[in-house]
Amino acid sequence: MSRIDTLIARMTLPEKLGQLTMTASSYTVTGPVIAGDSTQSIIDGTIGNLLNMVGPGPVHEMQRLAVEKSRLGIPLLIGLDIIHGHRTLFPIPLAEAGIFDEDLWERTAREAAREGAADGLAMTFAPMLDVSRDPRWGRTAEGPGEDSWLNARIAQAKVRGFQGNDLSSPEAMAACAKHFVAYGAVTAGREYAAVDISDRTLHEVYLPGFAAAVRAGVATLMPAFTDLNGVPMTAHIPLLRDWLRVEMGFDGVIVTDYNAIAELIKHGVAADLVDAAVLALKAGVDIDMMADAYRKGLPVALEQGRVTMEEIDTSVRRVLRLKEELGLFDDPYRRGTTQEPAALIAERHTLAREVARKSIVMLKNERDTLPLPTAAKSLCVIGPLADAHTEMKGPWWGAGEHEPAVSVLAGLRAALPQTDIRHAPGVAINSDDESGIEAAVALCDGVDAVLLCLGERASMSGEAASRATPALPGRQQALAEAVIARARALGIPVIAILFSGRPLVVPWLSEHADALLAAWFLGVEAGNAIADVLTGHASPSGRTPMSWPRVIGQIPIFFGQRPSGRPMNPADYYTSKYHDVDNTPLYDFGHGLTYGRFCYDELRVEPQRVREQDTLKISVNLRNDGAREAEETVFLFTRAKVSPVTRPLLELKGYAKLRLKPGEAGSVELSLPATDLRYLGPDLQPVFEAGQVEILVGPSAEQTGLLRQTIELS
Ligand code: GLC
Repeated sequence: MSRIDTLIARMTLPEKLGQLTMTASSYTVTGPVIAGDSTQSIIDGTIGNLLNMVGPGPVHEMQRLAVEKSRLGIPLLIGLDIIHGHRTLFPIPLAEAGIFDEDLWERTAREAAREGAADGLAMTFAPMLDVSRDPRWGRTAEGPGEDSWLNARIAQAKVRGFQGNDLSSPEAMAACAKHFVAYGAVTAGREYAAVDISDRTLHEVYLPGFAAAVRAGVATLMPAFTDLNGVPMTAHIPLLRDWLRVEMGFDGVIVTDYNAIAELIKHGVAADLVDAAVLALKAGVDIDMMADAYRKGLPVALEQGRVTMEEIDTSVRRVLRLKEELGLFDDPYRRGTTQEPAALIAERHTLAREVARKSIVMLKNERDTLPLPTAAKSLCVIGPLADAHTEMKGPWWGAGEHEPAVSVLAGLRAALPQTDIRHAPGVAINSDDESGIEAAVALCDGVDAVLLCLGERASMSGEAASRATPALPGRQQALAEAVIARARALGIPVIAILFSGRPLVVPWLSEHADALLAAWFLGVEAGNAIADVLTGHASPSGRTPMSWPRVIGQIPIFFGQRPSGRPMNPADYYTSKYHDVDNTPLYDFGHGLTYGRFCYDELRVEPQRVREQDTLKISVNLRNDGAREAEETVFLFTRAKVSPVTRPLLELKGYAKLRLKPGEAGSVELSLPATDLRYLGPDLQPVFEAGQVEILVGPSAEQTGLLRQTIELS
């Protein structure tokens, strides 16, 4: 008999339900722990998992209680939200999505896992795989942006990074694909609101990222708080049992979101905690995070015959197997035993700076305003985000709460020690007080350039942080108008830098600033990375993973729209349009300027007639006509011309990068297995359909910038 079967045979019901329960430990800062003082429950074996602990000391102390004091000595599984770094915070996931670099996505997850494991942790509640096409939704910050194909690539890279090749390694962590599924499609972008989408959209847009995570071997998965088409995800048998476990073959651990089982009562599908526990267990949920529904509800449900001991044992087995795979039985203290050397942490900061640099998206750069002229002798850095080092860490700082982060002001002063750098916040991030604007404007006189650092507080995105008006908060617009008016009068260029967890609706700033950067929240090395780009030490290369709306009324706006039977046609009144704004976004998916100037030509696609077993070879020539070396990201899209179902105007299928010096030319090669041209037929099953498909290549989803060729599938 295996160790696990032997254990299960010896376990009492309270001990089994303890393994199906996760609570915030008594060390936690996240409020009411269900176990009261969890230490006694751990000794009694009636709590088997913890979250929101940090530090080898407390972690090993709790682990020792479980392993050495409890009757069966089953080790604890302890997890934390390590979303974009543990203590060394990298850019928020939305920013990192825009680097389009699978190796770096994997490396930052790897480094986060090493740092978290060094703190004694064995599980992270990441990657967050919620595609979002609605900047009103605050958790857009934690996700991959608007595209399903990109999400799937990020999913694979992050699972590989967190888990490595051996889950029992002292540097590996169990990853958690979340929040299953379509959480990003909440009604009106309002957090926790209902999700109502078609089965086609569910399968084309939201499930592929989770399918990719499962194929990559993700150890755990977390259902979303939300209800999908009337069924709360925590009790969604068709998707959790039938699609995830049966169709996808996922046999890992399903852990609920915080208190989600109890919230089935608020959803109105459970009368009480017993009902809720039955619904969750029947759907295949293994660990109850913070609701205490399993410990309180399942004993009653057992007596009522509504669940069986076998169903409980199935979940207990999955949890124990995960602990075994993590090596927790063999050596429960292996994570957190060795402190990381300072040199390794310094290397991690170097990586954080590189990834932060590559996450910066230069949205506009009129008349080559950037990089700052080397002759610049004085700058003024204005705005409430200029010296906001804490905000740079974004909304999910995990264990990095007290880690120092470099602000724009600090980064610039470090990079330009001889330059006179003046600063005034002008206004607070989110207040009506305009009294500081005049002093800020006065600083502009006599400088070579003005840097306007504007945007959100980190807590204005992330969980429970939807904004009905995702624009500049407070009186920042008034500050921008006053500063730009003064700078214009003095002939001084203005570079606006936006800090946010989402695309912001900033049409005026986009029009009036000479240069505009999206700096999202770049983590602990933010200021240094921004200085690297502003001074020309590095060219910006980031691309926006989400379309930027011109106005809120365009939301949801994304490049993968279906064509409509009356697509926009200026010559025809009765076509799909608004009376008051263009259909196109302010900035398209994939948009991002560099210090180079790349020209594309000679798109070549082979073969022209494609069978399902073929692989397409696609190449395009590039030339850098700019004055500086830079790295271009080239996107590959497809467009099916005729199908039994309406197909998106563009489907992202690949990307490639090429670094060229001024005047240099080169070419990028992309290969595309023809099987990637399958689509979901009327029955939502993958189909390889004969017919014409357009291959499109270019710098973003902006249609006029794409080279295209039509091929024939046969
Ligand atoms: C939160 C979030 C989830 C997180 C969990 C544990 O409410 O929804 O993403 O992993 O609780 O902190």
